[in-house]
Amino acid sequence: MTRDFASTGASSASFSHEELFRRINALKKEMNALVLAHYYTVPEIQQVADIVGDSLALARAAEKTNADVIVFAGVYFMAETAKILNPGKLVLMPDARAGCPLADSCPAEEFRIFKQKHPGALVITYINSTAEIKALSDITCTSSNAEEIIRQIPENRQIIFGPDRNLGAYLAKKLGRKMILWQGYCYVHDDFSESNMLKARQEHPGAELIAHPECREEVLRHAAFIGSTKALLDYTVASAAETFIVATEPGILYEMQKRSPLKTFIPAPKDFSNSRSVCTQMKQNTLEKLYHCMLNRKPEILVDETLRLASLGSIKRMLEMSPL
Ligand code: 13P
Ligand code: SF4
Repeated sequence: MTRDFASTGASSASFSHEELFRRINALKKEMNALVLAHYYTVPEIQQVADIVGDSLALARAAEKTNADVIVFAGVYFMAETAKILNPGKLVLMPDARAGCPLADSCPAEEFRIFKQKHPGALVITYINSTAEIKALSDITCTSSNAEEIIRQIPENRQIIFGPDRNLGAYLAKKLGRKMILWQGYCYVHDDFSESNMLKARQEHPGAELIAHPECREEVLRHAAFIGSTKALLDYTVASAAETFIVATEPGILYEMQKRSPLKTFIPAPKDFSNSRSVCTQMKQNTLEKLYHCMLNRKPEILVDETLRLASLGSIKRMLEMSPL
């Protein structure tokens, strides 16, 4: 993996959002570029993106695109996955320093030793992992398709699941099968507490608590619905409830409100002076940086070809095992 920390070359000159939208849209045409953004990015990034989605939808979009350039407003493993799927395309990120601490909590050397302790086990890893970890894995998954993929594995086959211990524990409980779990976690989701959830439900009687499976079990057990970011979004559209307490990264509230303008969305409480309440890495994607990365065609995401080929198999297997 070559993690290019080169600056975007962003100058101090600041343009209005309207001007940046205009310039970014012009560059999209000029470069034949596709701008992908995760739901956790800031609203103005979601507004200018061609596709806004969760990890799975964005990986699928990257796999299918005919664009020459993919601009990924998300975190590093997402852009890296796009590059693994598209070696011939230019893949850019507004800020390549936007890593994912969950992915970084699973170093390849330690994971290799962990894997050796369980010979014969099938390795299923969350897409929130480095290319090195994907290369050590049999199948990649996201929170949208993990269940569907695990259901296809014979009952008697041992499974190693990583790096998110909360998602792993949730799946093990739901599917009634033991899995060997790597003990990583996402600080944004792991930081929600049961006492805060109970307090929020008391303060908003009638509101439905909905939660991402990266949250701890003590939170999930109180949720009316548990699902990936996209599943939570779809649930809020379909549910008859009018108010939701949303236990995931609050960036998704923008799209929830857009889809259901008459409903009320309350971010699940945390201490908002605490930076663990939001994914600070996702918020590194700003309009200015997006514009400058397109203008300067950097930072470019590069993946060593041997590593790319080694990691491609587990991503391809995921896409085959969870067709649309
Ligand atoms: P999904 O996009 O699969 O819901 O994952 C959430 C997340 O934490 C992305 O980094
Ligand atoms: Fe990583 Fe959590 Fe941020 Fe997703 S929300 S990018 S898992 S730190």
